[in-house]
Amino acid sequence: MAQQVRGVVARGKGQPVTVETIVIPDPGPGEAVVKVQACGVCHTDLHYRDGGINDDFPFLLGHEAAGVVEAVGPGVTNVAPGDFVILNWRAVCGNCRSCKRGKPQYCFSTFNATQKMTLTDGTVLSPALGIGSFADKTLVAAGQCTPVNPAASPATAGLLGCGVMAGLGASMLTGNVQRGDTVAVFGCGGVGDAAIAGAKLAGATTIVAVDLDERKLAWAREFGATHTVNASSGDPVEGVKAATGGFGADVCIEAVGNPKVLEQAFFARDLAGTVVQVGVPTPQMRFPDIAMIDFFGRGGALKPSWYGDCLPSRDFPLLIELSLQGRLPLDKFVSETITLDQVEAAFHRMERGEVLRSVVVL
Ligand SMILES: NC(=O)c1ccc[n+]([C@@H]2O[C@H](COP(=O)([O-])OP(=O)(O)OC[C@H]3O[C@@H](n4cnc5c(N)ncnc54)[C@H](O)[C@@H]3O)[C@@H](O)[C@H]2O)c1
Ligand SMILES: [Zn+2]
Ligand SMILES: [Zn+2]
Repeated sequence: MAQQVRGVVARGKGQPVTVETIVIPDPGPGEAVVKVQACGVCHTDLHYRDGGINDDFPFLLGHEAAGVVEAVGPGVTNVAPGDFVILNWRAVCGNCRSCKRGKPQYCFSTFNATQKMTLTDGTVLSPALGIGSFADKTLVAAGQCTPVNPAASPATAGLLGCGVMAGLGASMLTGNVQRGDTVAVFGCGGVGDAAIAGAKLAGATTIVAVDLDERKLAWAREFGATHTVNASSGDPVEGVKAATGGFGADVCIEAVGNPKVLEQAFFARDLAGTVVQVGVPTPQMRFPDIAMIDFFGRGGALKPSWYGDCLPSRDFPLLIELSLQGRLPLDKFVSETITLDQVEAAFHRMERGEVLRSVVVL
């Protein structure tokens, strides 16, 4: 029977979010209902609320979550009720041209639940990134559930469901950081600090953190930054070059979502270096006006990074093991734990730069 639970809804562009009663259908074929235990507040939720992703209001926000499978629909084999899972927003289909060529991390046809969650008046909700987990329970495609070691705490495990995975993968997978590399990370929120932690895990010897905010730079050092550059008090390109022997970094990661910062990351690279863009632009943003000779003359690569090019079934369990072994400080990303009613306030704290991650614990 359909159930009614509480969920955080964005009804219109820029309007404060509200906690509403939402209706969760029983899982249909290939679907699962998950009892959400924790869900991080990601900047992408704020982008949704502000109309920066699309206009399909009302949105059921939240997408960085861990919980326990409550029920599964017919034909579900990858998870069972009781499994502790991290939700992912790129479930692989197994059938598209990318999956068939053995590169499921680039799956073209990511899928979500086909049934809809609604408000009590029947208004269909658009779940953020096909998840919608600022809610007591949510309906997802079973492939969006990745079982991991239940010894992990939900508040930290859930972070792998989006921002922390995107950042770790931006350096370890998309940027392919190698031992001895120099890395610069522009924007040290949850995503950027995860990129720093990933660069450290991969063996980078110089890791330059760039941000406008001294608090963020101090936190970045805790994740492994060896140098910091405050972009509000000087040219960050020169700052990165100064920290890398005058050459620029092998891998520059843009984790803000800003064309000016992408341009800085482009010019802060060493010859043949890689720029990874993990920050999400708005539809209005244009690519920076870069002379083609600079693109050609510097060589290297420009690589957008969706979800850190992760493969949830491969990467979530292994990253959870690394964190349980004390080799990946996932718990450091949790600045505070909050309730569903405090998501709007958490957006403001995020905008003021006071937190890395606020995590709703249910
Ligand atoms: N590609 C993906 O798969 C993916 C996944 C999750 C989040 N994201 C995106 O990553 C970005 C970062 O997310 P977050 O949750 O870490 O956000 P956040 O707001 O916590 O962090 C952004 C950081 O950038 C800094 N910043 C802002 N302007 C800057 C500038 N001009 N120069 C240097 N630093 C600047 C801020 O001070 C802040 O520390 C967002 O755009 C988010 O939507 C992408
Ligand atoms: Zn596929
Ligand atoms: Zn996110």
